[in-house]
Amino acid sequence: MQNSSGIALNVTELNHQITINSGETLSLINKLSLNVASAEQIAITGASGSGKSTLLSLLAGLESVQQGQLTFTQNGQSVDQSYLRQNSGFVFQQFHLLPELDALNNVALPLKLRAIKHADEKASQWLDNVGLSHRKNQPISKLSGGEQQRVAIARAFVNKPSIIFADEPTGNLDEQTASEVASLMCRFARHNQTTLVLVTHNLAFAQQLDSQYCLAHGALSHVK
Ligand SMILES: Nc1ncnc2c1ncn2[C@@H]1O[C@H](COP(=O)(O)OP(=O)(O)O)[C@@H](O)[C@H]1O
Ligand SMILES: [Mg+2]
Repeated sequence: MQNSSGIALNVTELNHQITINSGETLSLINKLSLNVASAEQIAITGASGSGKSTLLSLLAGLESVQQGQLTFTQNGQSVDQSYLRQNSGFVFQQFHLLPELDALNNVALPLKLRAIKHADEKASQWLDNVGLSHRKNQPISKLSGGEQQRVAIARAFVNKPSIIFADEPTGNLDEQTASEVASLMCRFARHNQTTLVLVTHNLAFAQQLDSQYCLAHGALSHVK
């Protein structure tokens, strides 16, 4: 299937319980429902500890669903977990780059792992898109936080994902850099018709997206 449009997602009555230190069970996600349309950009905000990262892991299939329904569709056809995984991109607060590789190889790696041709050229193009062509042969450790996050964004988009999951991607950046990184993510997602599910504390970032939700007491309320 051509990745021509973003993956849409539908969540119905999702529940997730965790066991806390005392042995007590806590309902972190409680009958949560959510619809995200193809190519829609949504932000999830909420207090620290409210369960945002857990919710994102469940949505991205990184953590297994205990109860509830999660369905993904593309061009009106349902897609399975393995398709989802191959067509997802991730951006995290702690960049998760490989420090021993340079910027180019960090971006090219997901392509090389899948034996995709012209990996270096494609990676180089994406480093150019994020304004880092002059830094492509620098080891990651020599780059600033903002530059590292731009490399992580290039790496997330180089695979042409149909959906991107981002967990506090601007959490470690100063205000100015955060705003640049936020604009880049929105612009690329819009241009590539990529669905964007973003967890953020940054209200200015959240407000730029199509929809905004707040997670509290295990459920989402629609802010915008
Ligand atoms: N597998 C787990 N076992 C126990 N506690 C967990 C587990 N996953 C998350 N938690 C706890 O659940 C709460 C919500 O975590 P998290 O999803 O990281 O929230 P947020 O991203 O909103 O800060 C935290 O108190 C965290 O310690
Ligand atoms: Mg979190």
